[in-house]
Amino acid sequence: MEYTPLIVTIDGPAGAGKSTIGKEVAKRLGFLYLDTGAMYRACALFMLENGISIDDEEKVKALLPHLDILFRNGKIFLGGRDVSDRIRSPEIDKAASKISRIPAVRDKLTQLQRQIASGTNVVVEGRDMGTIVFPNAKAKIFLTASADERAWRRKRQLDEQGHIISFDIILRQIKKRDKADTERDIAPLRAASDALVIDSTRLTIEEVIERIIKFVNRQEKKMNKRKEASEFSFSVDNCLGFIANRLVKAFLKLLDYKLEDFNLTGAQFCVLTKLFEEEGLTQTQLAHRLYIESPTLVRTLDRLEEAGLIERRRVPSDRRAFHIFLTEKGHKLKDTLMQKGKEVHEAAVRGLKEKEIEMLKELLFKLWQNLENGAKEARKETKG
Ligand code: DC
Repeated sequence: MEYTPLIVTIDGPAGAGKSTIGKEVAKRLGFLYLDTGAMYRACALFMLENGISIDDEEKVKALLPHLDILFRNGKIFLGGRDVSDRIRSPEIDKAASKISRIPAVRDKLTQLQRQIASGTNVVVEGRDMGTIVFPNAKAKIFLTASADERAWRRKRQLDEQGHIISFDIILRQIKKRDKADTERDIAPLRAASDALVIDSTRLTIEEVIERIIKFVNRQEKKMNKRKEASEFSFSVDNCLGFIANRLVKAFLKLLDYKLEDFNLTGAQFCVLTKLFEEEGLTQTQLAHRLYIESPTLVRTLDRLEEAGLIERRRVPSDRRAFHIFLTEKGHKLKDTLMQKGKEVHEAAVRGLKEKEIEMLKELLFKLWQNLENGAKEARKETKG
């Protein structure tokens, strides 16, 4: 099975615990961890160190091509210099929030984020990971907490770093930053519609981590199941299509009838064989219920009718529906078809490996079951 890396996105407001939790989740899953907030911070620091005001959008844009950000061993480097601590000051808090509103900056960093995450299992953390940067990610989390709780957490963090600031000031700053992040025109902070929202106000770090890991495992299982299903049906459809087309060619010889553009898919073949087996099925209901491209099926049935193999009779209660019956010629052909079908099927199966045959059998069984249920319902509906 082809390998698809898993992207876990964690978005949310400042102070919700994204970094602490994101890092630990990545560690336990053995994934790469990418803190995109740190990239906006490093970008802001780069501009300030070069004497550029963040308000001067043109100058910021002009210097962007020289921005050199690198992650190594959980540290962030700017032009080869470790700036992991420097970007965590209140001054950079403000500057990063401002710089993140500049479209050219977002474009540049979005591109860089996709580049870093490409081809690897990764936990990415930020504001727009699930909505803009990785909209197809399979495990999206939106982590939030009340503004008060986030302000307390931020205060403890700043105290530890030696920045003593009052709780009220921090709370005000957090609210201001929330407003700026959620109300900005470009990539505003919001939960993706398919994200798992976790409010961490009354949860411990460990509880949040456990919830996320459980969710990621669930999503990964779903992803693999979906992939298996699509690979299965693809190969079965191909295989059946192959058999069907071989069969049709055999008919053409038998009938001396030219059907140049006759190219059936496996599903259509199933319907046709089913029609040969059970008569009186409703064409349109079957076509719809079995997700078959009905114009092609209808065309196929037109040809079969032209060849005098089937007869369609209108269903009085549904103007679009027909009952399909085999003519005498059709009955004769059906017997040949069933015999030929068996032979061609066996020949095709001979070329497959044992495991593939098992998968095929299982799928064929499912397909037939679907057909049977569809046919039963169609008959019930017609009777009703
Ligand atoms: O998560 P943080 O506080 O380190 O982020 C710093 C700033 O960067 C914050 O004001 C929001 C902004 N940011 C963003 O706009 N998009 C991201 N993906 C990450 C952060």
